[in-house]
Amino acid sequence: MASGRKKVSVIGAGNVGATVAFHIAQQGYADVVLLDLPDDLTLEKPRKTGSMATGKALDLNQASPIVGYSSRIKGTSDYADMAASDVVVITSGRPRSPGMSREDLLAVNADIVASVAAQAVRVSPAAVYIVVSNPLDAMCHVALKATSLPASRVIGQAGVLDSTRYRNYIAEAVGVAVEDIQAYVLGGHGDQMVPIRSLTTIGGIPVQQWVESGKLTEEQLQKIEDDTRQGGGILTGLIGTSAWYAPGVATAEMVEAVLLDRKRILATTILLTGEYGVSDLYFGVPALLGAAGAEEVYDLSRLVRLTPTELAGIEDSAKKVRVTVDSLRSLGKL
Ligand SMILES: NC(=O)c1ccc[n+]([C@@H]2O[C@H](COP(=O)([O-])OP(=O)(O)OC[C@H]3O[C@@H](n4cnc5c(N)ncnc54)[C@H](O)[C@@H]3O)[C@@H](O)[C@H]2O)c1
Repeated sequence: MASGRKKVSVIGAGNVGATVAFHIAQQGYADVVLLDLPDDLTLEKPRKTGSMATGKALDLNQASPIVGYSSRIKGTSDYADMAASDVVVITSGRPRSPGMSREDLLAVNADIVASVAAQAVRVSPAAVYIVVSNPLDAMCHVALKATSLPASRVIGQAGVLDSTRYRNYIAEAVGVAVEDIQAYVLGGHGDQMVPIRSLTTIGGIPVQQWVESGKLTEEQLQKIEDDTRQGGGILTGLIGTSAWYAPGVATAEMVEAVLLDRKRILATTILLTGEYGVSDLYFGVPALLGAAGAEEVYDLSRLVRLTPTELAGIEDSAKKVRVTVDSLRSLGKL
């Protein structure tokens, strides 16, 4: 697969991983390695010719003549194939089933993320790592420990997804194009995530003004915020497992920001070191993403006037994430 293109490795060739691979391949600027376990041990007749990841890669390559991309996708279970990656995405682990919280996945996914991150960093020590596996904030701590990389190169995807869900709900309620909604959903990737109303604009106009002018009711906006917080659970209830299209493209957007050094400001799960009054905790906040990973962190609590509700929401969300991270410690996994 030698080419002049950049290299992105996606660990976990399941729903989210394969969607990330497909979206990146379609952009044409990187080849993709899709890594999964050697074979599905639950299969009655294990495959003779390769693993599930090799099958998905073949399928993705066979889509390329029609879609028109030259990126190549390699499916593998051998970490040597992902050597010298520019970006590594970690999606391996169990997804949610209906009624499950992300925290229910804690112990099982901690072992998986620790194991894959440790193996990946041996062959790709210079990469930026983007964690997707849940519970997201806690899994970032696990990946940081397993890789021993600087925290700026171990980041998590949650806020881009949560924000796109919020933006989509608002666009539908108001009847304007999704592109014209700008919004951040910050905090932990759980039901206590915090939609930041004071930075939400529709066509550049603050959302609160849309409420005051009667174009959107307070009740509608509150329901949108609630549905955003419950977004993953609603989808899991409908689909029977975690969603993957929006999570996949949200992750690909972060990959692109790093790979192309785009200096995007995206809601990113990063290790806070005092910003927002929070230390030593992975948490979703706006960060500048470029080739070096999270290159700058923006402390909105200092930069803009957040409402008391937003500040309280951030504090509550941080407390909730800390409880999850502490339970990882008490399980001996951090
Ligand atoms: N952060 C987010 O916004 C977000 C959104 C959606 C899903 N998720 C999480 O992403 C993860 C993946 O979700 P999914 O829907 O793709 O699940 P999935 O079951 O479709 O795929 C997970 C894949 O990981 C693989 N895997 C398990 N252990 C592995 C190991 N040791 N090495 C390599 N591969 C391994 C499995 O074989 C499987 O193919 C879940 O934890 C889910 O909760 C996060």
